[in-house]
Amino acid sequence: MKVLVTGGAGYIGSMVCIELLNEGHDVFIVDNFSNSEMGTITKIMGITGKMVQYANVDITDRTALEVIFRSYQFDSVIHLAGKKSVSESIENPLQYYYDNLIGTVMLVQLMQQYDVQSIIFSSSATVYHPASICPIQETATLKSSSPYGRTKLAIENFFRELTAAHSNFSVVLLRYFNPIGAHSSGEMGEKPLEVPNNLLPYLMDAVSGKRPILEVFGNDYDTVDGSGVRDFIHVEDLAKGHIKALYYSMQNTGCEAFNLGSGTGYSVLQLIDTFAKVNEIDVPYHIGLRREGDIPVSFADISKAQRFLGWRPNKTLEEMCIDAWRWQLKLLKEQHVEAQIVFPSKKTV
Ligand SMILES: NC(=O)c1ccc[n+]([C@@H]2O[C@H](COP(=O)([O-])OP(=O)(O)OC[C@H]3O[C@@H](n4cnc5c(N)ncnc54)[C@H](O)[C@@H]3O)[C@@H](O)[C@H]2O)c1
Repeated sequence: MKVLVTGGAGYIGSMVCIELLNEGHDVFIVDNFSNSEMGTITKIMGITGKMVQYANVDITDRTALEVIFRSYQFDSVIHLAGKKSVSESIENPLQYYYDNLIGTVMLVQLMQQYDVQSIIFSSSATVYHPASICPIQETATLKSSSPYGRTKLAIENFFRELTAAHSNFSVVLLRYFNPIGAHSSGEMGEKPLEVPNNLLPYLMDAVSGKRPILEVFGNDYDTVDGSGVRDFIHVEDLAKGHIKALYYSMQNTGCEAFNLGSGTGYSVLQLIDTFAKVNEIDVPYHIGLRREGDIPVSFADISKAQRFLGWRPNKTLEEMCIDAWRWQLKLLKEQHVEAQIVFPSKKTV
């Protein structure tokens, strides 16, 4: 199949491209490199030994995007491009609605115009009501507490209405929980150019001395150790879910949502402890106050994805931590900042 991957140079998109290429599909990446580097595309080709076509295009640039649709007949689109920081979305909702929502509408306009009827969309667990009962099922009430989450929700609603009106259209909404880890080759992983949005980049910044210390937001929740509980999933497992979703989309029309998580909740302190243990390194952290808007516990029911997509995650929390740190060490070496690792490491960097 020929697949257009928007945001294909990003953290998750690059792993999706590797899985697509390994499965024998052709990949065309559209990315504006606002939160990624062109060098990632070379790495994707190096890891897979396959060619990738790409264009430095913003998905809100309809004219530039149309040139691509006019030149290639795609079988499907995997749509990951967008802005993803909750805090930034509170400061700049206009940018978030424009990029995420308008960008998606333009993409779908062109899909219709050029007869592409399948799309896999990167949604998020943030669309679920903060008081959802865990494990969270896809049928749980949807209500997001941030502008970022509401752009995802608005796009989901848009797709539901679109498929109701156009019965031959196929949309798979993938609701990611907390992707972490890096490619097992050690060659690729998260390298946020913008403010990081997730726990692990902050944790690794604290270990490597880029930040003084990791702040854990609250230890007085009603959980195993008082810290928040999340569903961490290895980014490679997550990427594989997209391939299964692509095959599902080829055989089904309509709009269907699937959770992609590990299905297990781990606390923030359990993650820190596991990271420290498997990498034999100390993680400097302190307990801070609860952060406004954080929910105590969130983890997925993944039985729908298992049943309908035939997908299941395989990687453990230990593997997520090992792969993440291996990638971080490579990055630090590239940046010649070994000396800045200030906390005692039992392993040679
Ligand atoms: N990482 C997570 O924890 C997480 C969780 C849930 C959902 N998601 C969603 O998954 C998708 C991918 O996330 P990621 O973690 O890989 O993020 P990322 O920032 O690493 O990747 C997004 C990519 O899209 C590109 N991009 C951004 N705006 C664009 C635009 N207007 N036009 C073209 N390219 C653009 C960026 O340069 C980047 O390469 C996003 O839609 C995000 O909202 C991520």
